[in-house]
Amino acid sequence: MPERKKRVYIETYGCQMNIADTEVVHSVLGKSGYEPSPTLADADVVLVNTCSVRENAEQRIYGRLGEFKRLKEENPDVVVGVIGCMAERLRSKLTDDFARGVGQIVDIIVGPDEYRKMPVLLDNAWHGEKGIAVQLSRSETYDDIVPLRTSGVSAWISVMRGCDKFCTFCVVPFTRGRERSRTLAGVVHEVELLASRNFKEITLLGQNVNSYRDGDHDFPDLLRAVARVDRSIRVRFTTSHPQDFSDKLIEAIASEPNICKFIHLPIQSGSDRILGLMNRTYSRDHYLHLVEKIRRNIPAATLSTDIIAGFPTETEADHSATLDVLRDVRYDGAFMFKYSPRENTPAFTMNDDVPDQIKSRRVTEIIELQNSISTDKNRTLVGSTVTVLVEGESKKSSDQWHGRTDGNKMVIFDKGGTVPGEYVDVCIGRSNSATLFGSIVQHSTSVEAA
Ligand code: SAH
Ligand code: SF4
Ligand code: F3S
Repeated sequence: MPERKKRVYIETYGCQMNIADTEVVHSVLGKSGYEPSPTLADADVVLVNTCSVRENAEQRIYGRLGEFKRLKEENPDVVVGVIGCMAERLRSKLTDDFARGVGQIVDIIVGPDEYRKMPVLLDNAWHGEKGIAVQLSRSETYDDIVPLRTSGVSAWISVMRGCDKFCTFCVVPFTRGRERSRTLAGVVHEVELLASRNFKEITLLGQNVNSYRDGDHDFPDLLRAVARVDRSIRVRFTTSHPQDFSDKLIEAIASEPNICKFIHLPIQSGSDRILGLMNRTYSRDHYLHLVEKIRRNIPAATLSTDIIAGFPTETEADHSATLDVLRDVRYDGAFMFKYSPRENTPAFTMNDDVPDQIKSRRVTEIIELQNSISTDKNRTLVGSTVTVLVEGESKKSSDQWHGRTDGNKMVIFDKGGTVPGEYVDVCIGRSNSATLFGSIVQHSTSVEAA
């Protein structure tokens, strides 16, 4: 009887780039005779793909590793690995970290640019040898690796890796290394493959996708090339840096019908003084003009942002400036965080002088304001009909689907004989700050915003 394939379970934390990397790791290991395990209990290899962006992200992962300790006591043969950004940041500290009691159970530590080495590291681990690979690369993009995807509708594609922006609060340039891009031909080939498998949504990923470059081709060229592969596929992208958001990019989004008119444009703070300390390299005015230009050229545009509350030296006046920007721009949504000092980043040497209590109060004010704006904006859609891509089952009811509009709004509706991957027109009956609820009017013939 052939030996059973060894099974790999990967738990993924952090941003979409980690979700995409998990699929790359499954693909690399698949070529070496491993297969994905649907459950933790059945796995021979348990990997945690980790995030270091804020202290609480790392604490959560430490907590999880603590739980894997029991798993390892029950089955000492299981191999446990830490991969991703925390592996890169903490390196051998992770295995030396006996104080937290989780160090002993970690067998392999692999940074984001070393996933090709995983089969060898695992081979060694079966013989009881611990392994670590955390070299960052200037060229690795995994361009030739077709990720092993589980969803049949939406796909993430990393088109560039790393970040050269060095915002002073951010650990990403240290965990992901220098910027580098995949080839345009490689990305387009992957999209053609996905089109032939009937995927209907593609999101191009990079910490700063606007910096994409392959020879003479820039990001707008890539976006157009991807959009033209198959007009029935929606194309999204994230994240855009406000400094590099070119007119050419606005023109591409405006003119290609299947590029979603949804733009995630992190501002971080509304205060020029804080933006300077953050090394964000744009002013509040530059940002507001950019938003105005986007809205003039792309009337259907929906916008979201990221905000950090309580950066070192942030005053009540700086905080008010952030609230003012939220009121001015009226984003459709936002991710809002308390500042978390990260070792080795430039801001780490600044005094983390905003007390936690004040950070919490400020972030709560930001969240409450944004929620009321999101609620108002969503309410304006009640009574209208929107085109939705059916993505999967709603969390609350097996009779309902969830899907999103072109503008990235989540919609819940009764299945009515439709299947994931179809576009449907949904009439919106009610809404809250995060979700629209409606019923199907008809199958849709268009992928564009209604
Ligand atoms: N490359 C993207 C996002 C990177 S991380 C960009 O430039 O926008 C995602 C978000 O996490 C950031 O936009 C920022 O709002 C937040 N973030 C990053 N470092 C942080 C820190 N040290 N404390 C709190 N939030 C942080
Ligand atoms: Fe971090 Fe700034 Fe790079 Fe975004 S652009 S990943 S916030 S350094
Ligand atoms: Fe986290 Fe790394 Fe992404 S630090 S946000 S998983 S790039």
